[in-house]
Amino acid sequence: MFWQLALLAYLTGSLSFAILLSRLTGAPDPRAGGSGNPGATNMLRLAGRGLAISTLFGDLLKGLLPVLLAAALGLAIEQQAWIGLAAVLGHSYPLYFRFRGGKGVATAAGVLLGLHPATALLALLIWLAVFTLSRTSSLAALVALPLCLPFLAWMQPTALWPMALLAALVAWRHRNNLRDLSKGRERHF
Ligand code: G3P
Repeated sequence: MFWQLALLAYLTGSLSFAILLSRLTGAPDPRAGGSGNPGATNMLRLAGRGLAISTLFGDLLKGLLPVLLAAALGLAIEQQAWIGLAAVLGHSYPLYFRFRGGKGVATAAGVLLGLHPATALLALLIWLAVFTLSRTSSLAALVALPLCLPFLAWMQPTALWPMALLAALVAWRHRNNLRDLSKGRERHF
């Protein structure tokens, strides 16, 4: 059951809402403008608030639903967390889009929400605080995800390894943002 769910999470995670919604609505392809990232932040830049929010919720559900399904089927928290990581891998390396996907923030948020809602709330509060101060989406994600991990490790210790890997994956996917942040040329809102 674990491997089937992990595969399902990867396959549904591979559905990029930014790309699909841009195709459905005729909005600009997020891979061809702005930061080039198929995610909610870049959809906000290129296509406006409505499509950005739709992308955010679609990508978040890709993380949340597999974790909830795994929980409903009685899988342990650690297995739920690995399945969540599979969903983020799908988002970042999508089977249907030549393995060129997004940075995984919204999907990771969905995984956290399914695993431990209080940790997801903490991550959201940190994200909002950093974003309010910096107006920079990437920086907010890069701070929020690692900072909420000690709390998750305390509340759900068995989820720590897969979630630490997930945070490392998200950081790796932001490597261009890290470079731009260090050079002072990252995009702000
Ligand atoms: O969620 C992605 C965000 O952290 C960065 O997006 O488009 O500014 O590279 P972007």
